[in-house]
Amino acid sequence: MSLRIYSVGDFCRVLNGSLHTVATSASLFYPSFDQGNPQSKGYVRGGLSLNFYEQSCPQVEYIVRASLRSISLTDPTTPAAILRLLFHDCQVQGCDASILLDPESDIFQTEMASRKNFGIQKRETINTIKAAVEAVCPQQVSCADILVLAAREAIAMSGGPMIVVPLGRRDSSSPPNFRQADASLPEPNIGLDATLQLFAKKGMTVGESVAILGAHTLGVTHCFNLESRLYKPEVDKIDPQFEIFLKMSCPLGSFTPNSSFVVNDPTTLLFDNQYFVNSINGRGVLKIDAEMPLDPRTAPFIQAFAYDQEVFFEAFSSAFAKLSSSNVLTGNQGVIRTNCNRLY
Ligand code: HEM
Repeated sequence: MSLRIYSVGDFCRVLNGSLHTVATSASLFYPSFDQGNPQSKGYVRGGLSLNFYEQSCPQVEYIVRASLRSISLTDPTTPAAILRLLFHDCQVQGCDASILLDPESDIFQTEMASRKNFGIQKRETINTIKAAVEAVCPQQVSCADILVLAAREAIAMSGGPMIVVPLGRRDSSSPPNFRQADASLPEPNIGLDATLQLFAKKGMTVGESVAILGAHTLGVTHCFNLESRLYKPEVDKIDPQFEIFLKMSCPLGSFTPNSSFVVNDPTTLLFDNQYFVNSINGRGVLKIDAEMPLDPRTAPFIQAFAYDQEVFFEAFSSAFAKLSSSNVLTGNQGVIRTNCNRLY
């Protein structure tokens, strides 16, 4: 699938002037969606469209951007947390904001009870942004769309591309339980074959699958998630010097595996291509980060992305559009929640 980057001017012409976004980075990254019926203004695919809130909430993108920026000023870990939150939402039952739901009773355990959601944060941040949106456009914008918009702002405000995302998702009215999350989310030690299969199910090419893992340019990994890689030697072969560093950071039998962590790459707050440079140098924190530069299917992409950040940004934008459009509810499906953490 080819990818075209439009200047702001070109892009506005393509959308017939319906764009409300002012790009905050040098370029808008416009994934090459199937435009479908060109007579249907703004139609993209699967019920999502680029001008979905044109009439009902034209301010939504601005409100999400302003809210996330102000929240991130007081807590700079917010962008990384929001980006991972989006992946974990989309991976379980689709991008339907189900991860934001609190348990309704002590008996029913939501997906957050899965141990694979360890370290997930900032669910309440999406609800705070939702409240700001509700104050201006009551009952119009779904929590699922707010989460996608917040994730793309998180990327852009960290120095990454400003990705154009179609909107119109609805929120789930049936929360999955933690077993479904356990079955759908990847293990921290997942291998390359399983990873490529996971992203192929979302329509991603190998290059896009490598690119989406470039999300690990942001944030941290807690020692809890490294224990099996570090202390079960059969998991994979780690660069000896890096292994010493990881083991010193996450010693066996530590009392604080849930709070100690290592950064995912040296520029942990910046969305850049250092993750790929790091991986090539044998400093990939997770097993998958270390495997990709060594496998002939993925190595050429790792090298291309490490060499040219713009190439990474293009492939990441295309992959992000696929991830954030996977298994969405649209039209009359699902609901628009008023409070993202509750069904009613
Ligand atoms: C095979 C797929 C993946 C695996 C196995 C994986 C695994 C992990 C693990 C174990 C962590 C550390 C969590 C912690 O200890 O707190 C992490 C962090 C993170 N992941 Fe992934 N991940 C995958 C794909 C993705 C994707 C597709 C995205 C986003 C598009 C993503 C975004 C992030 C971010 C931003 C962080 C840092 C979170 C923070 O600092 O709060 N990951 N990932």
